[in-house]
Amino acid sequence: MKVSVIGAGHVGENTARRIAEKELAEEVALVDIVEGMPQGKSLDMWESAPVEGFDTHLLGANGYEETAGSAVTVITAGLARKPGMSRDDLLAKNTEIITEVVENVVKHSPDTKIIMVTNPLDVMAYVALKVSEFDSNHVMGMAGILDTARFRSFVALELGVSVRDIQAMVLGGHGDTMVPLPRYATVAGIPLPDLLAQEKIDAIVERTRGGGGEIVSLLKSGSAYYAPSSAATEMVEAIVKDNKRILPCAAWLTGEYGLNDLYMGVPVKLGKDGIEEILEVKLNDEEKTMLEKSVEHVRSNLAKVSL
Ligand code: APR
Repeated sequence: MKVSVIGAGHVGENTARRIAEKELAEEVALVDIVEGMPQGKSLDMWESAPVEGFDTHLLGANGYEETAGSAVTVITAGLARKPGMSRDDLLAKNTEIITEVVENVVKHSPDTKIIMVTNPLDVMAYVALKVSEFDSNHVMGMAGILDTARFRSFVALELGVSVRDIQAMVLGGHGDTMVPLPRYATVAGIPLPDLLAQEKIDAIVERTRGGGGEIVSLLKSGSAYYAPSSAATEMVEAIVKDNKRILPCAAWLTGEYGLNDLYMGVPVKLGKDGIEEILEVKLNDEEKTMLEKSVEHVRSNLAKVSL
């Protein structure tokens, strides 16, 4: 079982490392255009294996031969946000990069599942779907797990409880138009609104929406990578172990939630066939309005893509 990670920058290298440390594959191929860099990072990580105690082999490359036969491919190649940039500012350049990357990925791994991480996520997943000509259950985006992880981490801080006991769900596009669903959030099965005042929940929702921007403005050069790489790794794990996790991911909608022909963050069942099912949760009017805004935003970005 091989997993490839394309783009060996901050998100890519940490994804490769997490996959190796969890031994989710026999081999991880790490690809980047910068000469020597993925080879150096892979070798350095492999040299940590005796101390960390993992047997997953890491291989760096500037081409795609080494990715041949990958069961899963995580794509992180592209430009990352700088302060003052929105995820959408990356659209044109990353469309070019993702087109080239996906053509190469597909040539060597015609049966791979693609997990898109590059922003703007919902649009780049669409580019990958079109370029690969794969079934839509094999092309998905990483967004909701990251957004819910942020939400859960803030709730844990507020309540002073373990993050392990907090469950949450976020719908919609990745970014400022995401639709957090606090009424579906629980602490060890107890509905969050029973434990936390509405204004505290509202503040956590706002912080979650701006969670990526908060990191960008602190880092000043680049965007978040520890939590994004954890989220991507959780998707890889669900697919390679076929453990049918229910996770919020960007999925291609064909009628679910009354929507068609776009990627949206929704709860899905993830297993060896990729997205094996899309789950529909009941939304109230306020949540529906938020989702509509999110849809508008994603559609306006899709209109800017020319393939
Ligand atoms: N092929 C392969 N790799 C490429 C290509 C390409 N055509 N173009 C760029 N890259 C590589 C860069 O050389 C760089 O090493 O992609 C890597 C991106 O890494 P970073 O700049 O560190 O960005 P990172 O923080 O990892 O974010 C990557 O994930 O979360 C999103 O918004 C983020 O779109 C961004 C992506």
